[in-house]
Amino acid sequence: MHTNDAARFYGALNRLERDAKVRQMQRCTQHKGNTTFRHCRSVAVSSFRLAQWLGWRIDEPTLARGAMLHEFHLYTRRRNDLRHLFRHPRLALRNAEAAFSLNDKERNIILSHMWPLTLATPPRSKEAVLVMLADKYCACRELYGRR
Ligand SMILES: [Fe+2]
Ligand SMILES: [Fe+2]
Repeated sequence: MHTNDAARFYGALNRLERDAKVRQMQRCTQHKGNTTFRHCRSVAVSSFRLAQWLGWRIDEPTLARGAMLHEFHLYTRRRNDLRHLFRHPRLALRNAEAAFSLNDKERNIILSHMWPLTLATPPRSKEAVLVMLADKYCACRELYGRR
């Protein structure tokens, strides 16, 4: 079912937020000390708001799960580690697949969130496009916004 229903989206997001495996991301930081957990939650909320603004019908649980798990690489990036930029989507996917059973769209959301940097893995659904855009927006806000 594809709709644009806030209850379906936030229901799925809240279930994930309570999951102990997802909460492991509270121990990792990125973007000036913001936790990876908070970053993923911001990306999830922003991607859903963008879908609402665009009037796009989406699979809400898939958007919530893909967005919340897009940085499930479970480590804090070392400064100036450029390889991280290219490598972490695959690591996040590997961890997420070990911990959850994902659908194809969720796999692609995680793999494509750094596109176009990772040229070979473009977003293949509306949900993946939303997360790819929301990730860049949230990263800029976390890096350059007022604290
Ligand atoms: Fe990322
Ligand atoms: Fe991200």
